[in-house]
Amino acid sequence: MLPSLHVRTRPTSPGRNTVTTPPATEVSDVSELRQQLVEQLRADNHIRTAAVERAFRTVPRHVFAPDAALEAAYANDIVPTRHAPDGRVISSVSAPWLQADMLEAARMRPGHRVLEIGSGGYNAALMAELVGPAGHVTTLDIDPAVTERATRFLTKAGYGRVRVVTADAEHLPTSVVPDGGFDAIVVTVDTWDLPWIRALAEGGRLVAPLRLHGYHWAIGFSEVKGALHSDEPLIVCGFVAMQGDCAWETNRRTVPGTGVHLSWEDGTPLPVGQLAPALTREPTVTRTHVTVGGQEPFDALTLYLAGALPGFCRLEVDPDGDNGVLNPPPQHWPGAAIVRGASLARLATERISDGDDGKGLYEFVVHGYGDQGRLAAQEMAEQVEHWQRNHRGARCPVITARPAAGCAPAGTDHEPHVFAKKHTRITVDWPIVPGSAALLTDPGSCDAG
Ligand SMILES: C[S@@+](CC[C@H](N)C(=O)[O-])C[C@H]1O[C@@H](n2cnc3c(N)ncnc32)[C@H](O)[C@@H]1O
Repeated sequence: MLPSLHVRTRPTSPGRNTVTTPPATEVSDVSELRQQLVEQLRADNHIRTAAVERAFRTVPRHVFAPDAALEAAYANDIVPTRHAPDGRVISSVSAPWLQADMLEAARMRPGHRVLEIGSGGYNAALMAELVGPAGHVTTLDIDPAVTERATRFLTKAGYGRVRVVTADAEHLPTSVVPDGGFDAIVVTVDTWDLPWIRALAEGGRLVAPLRLHGYHWAIGFSEVKGALHSDEPLIVCGFVAMQGDCAWETNRRTVPGTGVHLSWEDGTPLPVGQLAPALTREPTVTRTHVTVGGQEPFDALTLYLAGALPGFCRLEVDPDGDNGVLNPPPQHWPGAAIVRGASLARLATERISDGDDGKGLYEFVVHGYGDQGRLAAQEMAEQVEHWQRNHRGARCPVITARPAAGCAPAGTDHEPHVFAKKHTRITVDWPIVPGSAALLTDPGSCDAG
C-alpha cells in the first residue's frame, strides 16, 4: 500500500443516503449492538473514561438515524442524513470513534454548560449524559431541517431538556452564551477558523476539527487568558463542510491545460498560468533519504511543510483526466507543493523495499518542475530532512489560537508556522524530538533527473 494521508474515517465521502426500512428487531438486539460498539470503542482506546463509556452505553444511537438499518446505525462509521443537490453529504451522525475521542478531549463534568456546533441530536444527547441534570447543553445548526429533526429525536429519546438553536455559528447569538461563558464547546463541522474563544469560560475547553492548509485535525484546546492552547494529541479527521459565513475558501487554481489544481487555503494564492510549460517537462528528483513505512501516516510532515515553506499549496490532479502530466500522479490525497515563479516542487514517495513488515518502505523524494524546479525541490527536501532530524519523534505540535484583533496585523512576509485566519492567529510550535526512523545510510546521488 502506498503511503498516503492516514484518515480513519471520511465522513465527507459522497454517496446518496439509501433509505432503508429497519428490519423488525428485538429491543435486546439493539442494546446488544450498542454494547458491542462500546466494547470496540474501548478496545481501540477511543473511550477512555467511565463517564464517556456510560454515555455511549445509555444513548440509543438508532433513534437519531431512523432511516438507517440498525447495523448501520451501530457501525463505527458515519450515517449520512442530508445531502446537497449534487449528492455531497451536508449532515450526518458522526462516526462514533471520533465522537468518543472528541468528548474525551472536551473533559465535560456534571453541571457544565456546554455547546455543540453542528447538530443532529445524538452527540448532544451524549453531552447531556456527561453534564447530567445539573448541567446544560445547547446544540446549534445552520440548517432548520437538521434542527427540526434534532428536536424531534432528542424529545423521543428523552433528552427534551437539550436546547436546540438554528443559527450560523459564525454569528453565535449572545443570548445562547451563559453568564461567564461555556465550560466546553465541541465543534462537529469542518472549520477553518475558531471564532468562539470569547464564548468560553475561563479555563474552558474547545474541541474542533480545524483546517490548516486543507489538512483537518481534531484538536483539544484549553482557554488560558483569552487564548487557546492545545493539550491533547491531534487527530486526523474529516467532517462535513462548513456552510454560511464561516465557510472556507479553498482558493483553488487550475494550471491551464494540465488538469493540475493548486489550493492555497491559508496564505495568498500565487499565479499558476505560467506553470504550464514547466509541468510538461521531465522533473528533477531530489532524494531526502528519509523513509516512511507503507502504512505509516505522515500527516505531521505535511503540516510541518505547510508552516515552514512560503508559497506552500496542495496539489491534486483530475482523477479522470489522466493527461500524464505528473508521473507518477499524486495519490488520492492532495499532496504538498510549493510554487517558485514559473517553477514548482512537489513531495512524492518512491518504494525502495518491501520493508520489515512486507507493507513496503518508501523514501520521500521531491520532484522539481521548471528552470528553478531543482532549487525549489532542494528547499522542500531540506525541510523534510529538518523535520526528520528535529521533530519527527514529537507526538504532535502545540497549537495556539489567539484572537486576531489582539495580534499585530499579518504582514505580507511569510511567518513560519503561523496561519493567519479571519478571527484568529494560529501558531504551530514543533517540539524538538528527533525522529527515530532510520535515514537511508547510503546517500547515493543527491539529485537524479
Ligand atoms: C457532521 S454534522 C453534525 C453531527 C452531529 N453533531 C452528531 O450528532 O453526530 C455537521 C452539521 O454542521 C452543520 N453546519 C454547517 N455549517 C454550519 C454553520 N455555519 N453553523 C452551524 N452549523 C453548521 C450542518 O448543517 C450539519 O448538520
